[in-house]
Amino acid sequence: MSSSLHDASPRRYLMCPPAHFMVTYSINPWMDPAKPVDLPLAMTQWEDLRDRFRSLGHTVELLDPLPGLPDMVFAANGATVIDGRVFLARFAHREREPEAVAHHDWFRSAGFTEIGEPVHINEGEGDFAVTSSYLLAGRGFRSSTLSHDEAQEFFGRPVIGLDLIDPRFYHLDTALSVLDDAADEVMYYPGAFSPGSRAVLRRLFPNALIASERDAVAFGLNAVSDGRHVLLPQAAVGLFEPLRDRGWEPIGMDLGELLKGGGSVKCCTQELRP
Ligand code: ARG
Repeated sequence: MSSSLHDASPRRYLMCPPAHFMVTYSINPWMDPAKPVDLPLAMTQWEDLRDRFRSLGHTVELLDPLPGLPDMVFAANGATVIDGRVFLARFAHREREPEAVAHHDWFRSAGFTEIGEPVHINEGEGDFAVTSSYLLAGRGFRSSTLSHDEAQEFFGRPVIGLDLIDPRFYHLDTALSVLDDAADEVMYYPGAFSPGSRAVLRRLFPNALIASERDAVAFGLNAVSDGRHVLLPQAAVGLFEPLRDRGWEPIGMDLGELLKGGGSVKCCTQELRP
């Protein structure tokens, strides 16, 4: 298959440097507090990602890292922003709860006025993914089904609830990635979803790029697309050719240290959609 390249559009992202990144507790199967983390390396890897976004012409805003919040680097989890409207997170685990307050403060000081405070558990873009037609919403491990209704009401977008069934893929953004938010193009790993949710995905996205388990385990679906470039973990080697065949420009990143916390490219990147 050969197709012409898609067009990039300038994006605005919110990221948080891993200044206090550590694995001191375990709330997903990737986190092993006994495994040492190389903090300077984590920082270099994160800076590479930030610099790459900037060199592609995107704006990267920075959230101040706070001591005692080692998972704060995973900025995608703090909120979901669409049309400049902010739907804050409410974390499932006590350890991450205060991060929502830090995000709230950031949005207020950055001049966002429409900020929704959730009643139910939702972990921001960890479980919410935006396509042109839908708000895809994961559940099963973190975000509650009730948060799906709340988000639908807040954004006025149809929410498609998707059941995650494999603890390795505990957030939707570990199992599915939106490639083109203007044309409903996605890639995903079917094994992460219940049979019914798999059927829903097939129905909505019949032309989706289907990822192998191997690439999913390498966090290949934890990717960020700007409409042309797809930044993804370089270890997800099986995804590069199919992406190129479909007219995307894959860019491999190494966020190996952050993977010890159970996150990669997308987890570190919250998109601020105007
Ligand atoms: N250690 C974090 C947690 O378990 C990782 C979050 C990864 N973020 C993401 N968007 N999937 O909550």
